[in-house]
Amino acid sequence: MTETPDFPQPGILFRDLSGLFADGPSLRAVAGALLDGFGEMDAVVGVEARGFVLGTAAAVNAGLGMLAVRKAGKLPGDVLTESYDLEYGTAALQVHPDTLPAGSRVVIVDDVLATGGTLAATLRLMERAGWRVVGIAVVIELVDLGGRAALEALTDAPIEALLTL
Ligand code: PRP
Repeated sequence: MTETPDFPQPGILFRDLSGLFADGPSLRAVAGALLDGFGEMDAVVGVEARGFVLGTAAAVNAGLGMLAVRKAGKLPGDVLTESYDLEYGTAALQVHPDTLPAGSRVVIVDDVLATGGTLAATLRLMERAGWRVVGIAVVIELVDLGGRAALEALTDAPIEALLTL
């Protein structure tokens, strides 16, 4: 993992897992570990953008499909939208609600849990779409930023981090 101070704005320490993604054995190991312990699931949900890489790798490893939760403005047609605050600014996420049947069991995958704003918005999207979140998996949890508590206020699903910092 690389750490870049003052990116994309002053005061933000940007943590990036691109090096892990680029290393075959590391990516395979993470893909194999991310979904451990969640039990039965029907699909993986990956959050733009780095959640796409990890979510797809984990889904292929498990023989499942990967549903993309996208930043606003990328999906055509009828979409659900949830706004959220980032460490730097605001944003919105969208999903097509008809991609999976109602009641589908999903595990949400992303690279980093920081404030929890991104995954909280994703949880709200899953609820509105009628899908049941059976787990949340991240590679890194930044515990001082309180994201876990923000998510636990919204779901009883287990939240698993491969690393805590
Ligand atoms: C980063 C990271 C998580 C999110 C975590 O994504 O990949 O999705 O921030 O922060 P939070 O818990 O405070 O919401 P970013 O918004 O930088 O988007 P990107 O992956 O498209 O670069």
